[in-house]
Amino acid sequence: MSGKPSFYVTTPIYYVNDNPHIGHAYTTLACDVMARFKRLDGFDVMFLTGTDEHGQKVEKAAEAAGVDPLSFCDKVSENFRILAKEWNFSNDDFIRTTEPRHVDSVQALWRKLVDSGDIYLDHYEGWYAVRDEAFYAEDELTDGPDGQKVAPSGAPVEWVKEPSYFFRLSAWQDRLLELYKSRPDFILPESRRNEVTSFVAGGLRDLSVSRTSFSWGIPVPDDPDHIMYVWIDALTNYITAAGYPDENGEAFNTWWPAIHIMGKDILRFHAVYWPAFLMAAGIEVPKRIYAHGWWTSEGQKISKSLGNVIVPSEIVARYGLDQVRYTLMREVNFGNDGDFSHRGAVQRCNHDLANDYGNLAQRSLSMIAKNCEGRVPEHGDFTDADLALLDKSYGLLEVCRGHIDVQAFHLMLQAIWDVIGDANRYVDEQAPWALKKTDPERMATALYVLAETIRHLALLTQPVMPETSGKLLDQLSIGADARDFAALSRDHALVPGSELPQPQGVFPRYVEEEGAA
Ligand code: MSP
Repeated sequence: MSGKPSFYVTTPIYYVNDNPHIGHAYTTLACDVMARFKRLDGFDVMFLTGTDEHGQKVEKAAEAAGVDPLSFCDKVSENFRILAKEWNFSNDDFIRTTEPRHVDSVQALWRKLVDSGDIYLDHYEGWYAVRDEAFYAEDELTDGPDGQKVAPSGAPVEWVKEPSYFFRLSAWQDRLLELYKSRPDFILPESRRNEVTSFVAGGLRDLSVSRTSFSWGIPVPDDPDHIMYVWIDALTNYITAAGYPDENGEAFNTWWPAIHIMGKDILRFHAVYWPAFLMAAGIEVPKRIYAHGWWTSEGQKISKSLGNVIVPSEIVARYGLDQVRYTLMREVNFGNDGDFSHRGAVQRCNHDLANDYGNLAQRSLSMIAKNCEGRVPEHGDFTDADLALLDKSYGLLEVCRGHIDVQAFHLMLQAIWDVIGDANRYVDEQAPWALKKTDPERMATALYVLAETIRHLALLTQPVMPETSGKLLDQLSIGADARDFAALSRDHALVPGSELPQPQGVFPRYVEEEGAA
């Protein structure tokens, strides 16, 4: 082992009955930013994503496409790998629930839960929505347009009666409440924690965890008429990838427990069922369950029928990858719902990136290229103004760490942009172009302070904008071995006299196409 502390972050595994859209890209992006930050901050990181391939919906979708379920999954799962490549996601593993390692893991967990007395056989009848893969209580249903009963999600329900295995969820109510109470940051944001706590406090019913009505799933050990209900199968992916069932193995000890990030719609499964399964099996519960909000598009709910689905590859082609990554992480306070609009994206690209960050780098580096022979300037004594900016840069890592540790990506970016704002004001106040004739030494010092500030900014924007930050670091001649956060200190400050390449702008302005809105 490397001796470094370890960090394990996961995305939900995505259903293969849909093509990747902005919701998928968003959840994975947030995890990617976490993973990149922690790697740069000296952690050994495992970042997991993947696809959720079992269940009746997939069985039906494959049938409709005229192919067997596995070939269907092979094809759609690939689209999520392509998304990861296109968006520069740095996942270390990609799990598919149809893989043998996962089947072994879920069956081992199942056996454990049978042995502990937490799974028992009975039968189930109730209102079931195929689309949601969930049962609903009578009082949750409403009448749909054609007189059929529908779930709160709008999905039609049918009455189903079948033998089923149950997980004794009711027995875990007190221990779940105790967990939420003793670990206030187990579920974030806080509003979600309160929601989950009142749901659990309202009482829990045992959970149906197997089906006999379809066959595309993992067989229940010793009772092959039953296949496992999707959520026990799906959630277990998080421990499979950490080496389960080898609970005493090095991998499991290194990685588990994880931080799970997901959308608010699937919080209950992660914050209630999953810790209950784990506690019942004697496995440590996750470190954190973070539920983020949902995106709308130009103020409207995103839906296929409205034809306003935001396709990840299309927005990247339009605005640029790092521009989109920045916009998604900055535009909305992580945890809240938010709206993706063309105007908002253009504002982020042109104002925050091209004007604030891009211009700061471009004008500082151009002045150095022109007036300091293309070398890191020699500096004289620092003034109070110089020290104020440098000290703020040197203190930025600690501020960012505090925000990233509670998934406050927007606050991390705000803190970085605060320094960008200070640096731009510093350029205006110091006016190095005017010092050229009157006080060239002072000019060199001011340009040095700016270059050193930009070095800090470029290092710290790497998790969100890996490619463009890398280009800025190239322009400061920062070698690959000086790009992690250990270099964020005075000890690694730019060395005067080092040669710098010709600077180039890295954040082009978004120019509206002729006739576009
Ligand atoms: N397969 C389950 C997860 C099992 S995890 C053990 C699933 N898959 S999903 O493909 O439907 O959803 C994946 C993620 O996309 C969820 O986190 C969901 O919240 C997110 N989003 C889907 N639409 C979204 C938006 N419009 N906005 C933001 N995220 C949304 O659920």
